Amino acid sequence: MATPLLEVRGLSKGFPGVRALDAVDLTVQAGEIHALMGENGAGKSTLIKVLTGVFPRDAGETRLDGQIIAPKSPREAEALGMSTVYQEVNLIPHLSVAENICLGRQPLWLGTIRWGAIAKRARAALARLDLSLDVNRQLSSYSIAIQQMVAIARALDISAKLLILDEPTSSLDKTEVEELFKKLRKLREGGLGIIFITHFLEQVYEISDLITVLRNGRRVGCFATKELPRIKLVSHMIGKDVREVEALEQKRASTATIRSDLPMLEAKGLGRKGSIHPLDLEIRPGEVLGLAGLLGSGRTETARLLFGVDPPDQGTLLFNRRAVRFHSPRSAIRYRIALTPEDRKVAGIVPSLTVRENIVLALQASRGIWRRLSVPEQEKLADRFIQSLDIKTPTREQIVRNLSGGNQQKVLLARWLATEPRLFILDEPTRGIDVGAKAEVEKLIQSLRQEGLAVLFISSELEEIVRQSQRVVVLRDRRKVGELTEAEISEEAIMQSIATSDMERPGA
Ligand SMILES: Nc1ncnc2c1ncn2[C@@H]1O[C@H](COP(=O)(O)OP(=O)(O)OP(=O)(O)O)[C@@H](O)[C@H]1O
Ligand SMILES: [Mg+2]
Repeated sequence: MATPLLEVRGLSKGFPGVRALDAVDLTVQAGEIHALMGENGAGKSTLIKVLTGVFPRDAGETRLDGQIIAPKSPREAEALGMSTVYQEVNLIPHLSVAENICLGRQPLWLGTIRWGAIAKRARAALARLDLSLDVNRQLSSYSIAIQQMVAIARALDISAKLLILDEPTSSLDKTEVEELFKKLRKLREGGLGIIFITHFLEQVYEISDLITVLRNGRRVGCFATKELPRIKLVSHMIGKDVREVEALEQKRASTATIRSDLPMLEAKGLGRKGSIHPLDLEIRPGEVLGLAGLLGSGRTETARLLFGVDPPDQGTLLFNRRAVRFHSPRSAIRYRIALTPEDRKVAGIVPSLTVRENIVLALQASRGIWRRLSVPEQEKLADRFIQSLDIKTPTREQIVRNLSGGNQQKVLLARWLATEPRLFILDEPTRGIDVGAKAEVEKLIQSLRQEGLAVLFISSELEEIVRQSQRVVVLRDRRKVGELTEAEISEEAIMQSIATSDMERPGA
């Protein structure tokens, strides 16, 4: 057999109180897409980071093309031919798209940066992903999904032997994932080795050749994708036998009776210029309203409108049949409305605070500084959610930055659950969360719903929307194009509603 492109032997890495990697082996051949799977906190990102010199290793050996390598920084790894998109998009929001793509590799001419060349190179990198953006615009002016594409374009900009993608698809929609996969297949044909990390099982089955499963920092095994049934994969990941996994998967949302026909929140012709066209929307207590649509269709904008992040400039909003105006999230929070934003890094987690501090943050803020939660109260609250959401952390006093990506997401969810909201707006709440935890979160949402909570649920995964929602509003091009209830809700119906053109739609 040919020399493997990448050969990792006995890689170990510990953090205080955590054995993140325990003698892990991994072999990747050129021209292969190798998926790395495991629960939140299994050690996937740590493996990538140790491999690419973000963290030093405790033990182990890495060979690239048969040569022993030990890069001490991502830059060095890049120079060796390993190009990486890390789970946390490490771009610089206030720089332009072009600068971000060429960051640290700017073409110089007699010591000065050649802006024209940078823009050209950036456009070429984006074109390979079939994206045409204004590369001179500030990165932060684009959506998270576009930013994610820019990160991938950046990784593709250098001629690498090994491309590593740590959850690159978490905020991409179906069509974009398809585009990316097309590109990856082409790269695979060209002999590139690709390591692909994701929590979307269907994506793994669509794109990967081999799957290495990690659990609690250990390698469970390496399997040919074609020969590994989905249920077996999940059972390897969570360390339970197949029968238990089946039971877990069967816990589907029950369609218990909706408690009230009167809407809790009602939007009438609510809109905002340049953001979302005026739309009508109702959310009832005890109901999950799904918000479906492709990327850029206005889902997040709608959430921000309802929560007072971007106040509406037309239409009315009623809360329990009283007209209200939310000029800021603060005023929405006063009505016990909560929102978990899609981008946990910018709008959510405070990385330097502990798990406990992050969990109590919103509740404390809503109580005001005069009614501080005592430390024992805070501890009780934190422990309750660490347990109920199964947050993997050595202690409640761990700094959140040190948690795995999915576990940070759970902390964010806990923070808002702690405020006991009446209306919960969830923007991609299960992004980056593993299958087991996803089922837990779904269960939690459904049980809160049965207690009368109203939920606005945004997800790119239609399957999840269909499973969770009693009603679905479909958006396209920043306007509402359809609404489905109970029995009408199916993936096909939503897709159809998205695809129907304005001409065919009555009244448009
Ligand atoms: N800098 C750090 N300091 C302390 N502990 C860390 C640090 N980075 C990771 N860990 C711990 O190492 C373990 C593995 O984390 P890692 O980020 O590799 O998980 P993951 O498999 O990528 O999970 P996810 O699917 O949630 O992204 C976790 O228990 C995490 O809390
Ligand atoms: Mg990770």
